[in-house]
Amino acid sequence: MKEVEVSAPGKLMLFGEHAVVYNRPCLVTAVDQRMMVAMEISARQVIEIEAPGVGIRNYRRKVKDLGKGTNIPKGVRFLERAIKNFFDQYQVESGLKIKTKSEFSSQFGFGSSSAVTAATLEGLSILLGINLSKKELFNLAYKTVLDLQGVGSGFDLAAAIWGGTVYFVTGGKRIIPLKKMGKLPLVIGYSGVKAETPTLVRQVESLYLRYPRLVEGIFDHISLLTREAKKALVEGNFKKGGELMNLNQGLLESLGVNTKKLAALIFAAREAGAYGAKLSGAGGGDCMIALVNKETKPAVERAIGKSKGLVIKVQTGAEGVRRE
Ligand code: MEV
Repeated sequence: MKEVEVSAPGKLMLFGEHAVVYNRPCLVTAVDQRMMVAMEISARQVIEIEAPGVGIRNYRRKVKDLGKGTNIPKGVRFLERAIKNFFDQYQVESGLKIKTKSEFSSQFGFGSSSAVTAATLEGLSILLGINLSKKELFNLAYKTVLDLQGVGSGFDLAAAIWGGTVYFVTGGKRIIPLKKMGKLPLVIGYSGVKAETPTLVRQVESLYLRYPRLVEGIFDHISLLTREAKKALVEGNFKKGGELMNLNQGLLESLGVNTKKLAALIFAAREAGAYGAKLSGAGGGDCMIALVNKETKPAVERAIGKSKGLVIKVQTGAEGVRRE
């Protein structure tokens, strides 16, 4: 095969962020905004990348120089490392022309790096005729993320690869797609601030090192409520799901990752009739989510808008990485 186009979805964390870095479970859903990666084999031993969404034009890198040097632009870092890891793992090499296009802004915290990593690796496996299982794809993608970020549970890659809604334990120890879970009645509000996940993970680590028993206790409670939430959401019990979101939010607040802006959006959503609301992801910015029903949804969206949040319309449970 000479060319292929692959896409992978963005994600939203539903329950269990931060605790999932410490061997606990989380619930994550794929959203119907996708990252597209078009790839073509080229005869020259060069990787050429166009990624206008992140300001990358005419980027060129010799295959033999992949992974070398320190000032690789942010917009191609994951792509380049994914290619290098794939070539190293499967002892292959090829020149490539690559174009990426994202349906979502990398500002929102929807996981553009993990989506581009998953799509790139899937594209290479198709182009170079090396069949990978989902778990093999996950392992190589997770290695890529850890190479570059040093920290992270890999939950976002599970959403990008499996799609749907997934029950996930640190590093892919358990990956259970929740096939019976329907679309979730969620409202998503962007706080207007971009969060730096590794910084927040390290901030929680510092709290953990100072208060290990206390923070272990918080993680245990998050773990318990995540398991309860899995049942509640599969059964369509959104009232209970909302209550569990509020509990999860309280525990995230105690970890110190809430912000005034997120809190304002969360309270606005609750006051407008949401079943419950919480921040989604690392905290420190990015998005909050609220569980609603048909009747309360418009009021919750208005309330988030009034509190200067940006309502992002997405559907949950989108398909995982696929060939277009
Ligand atoms: C970030 O979106 C979620 C965290 O749990 C980090 C991770 O799981 O990689 C804070």
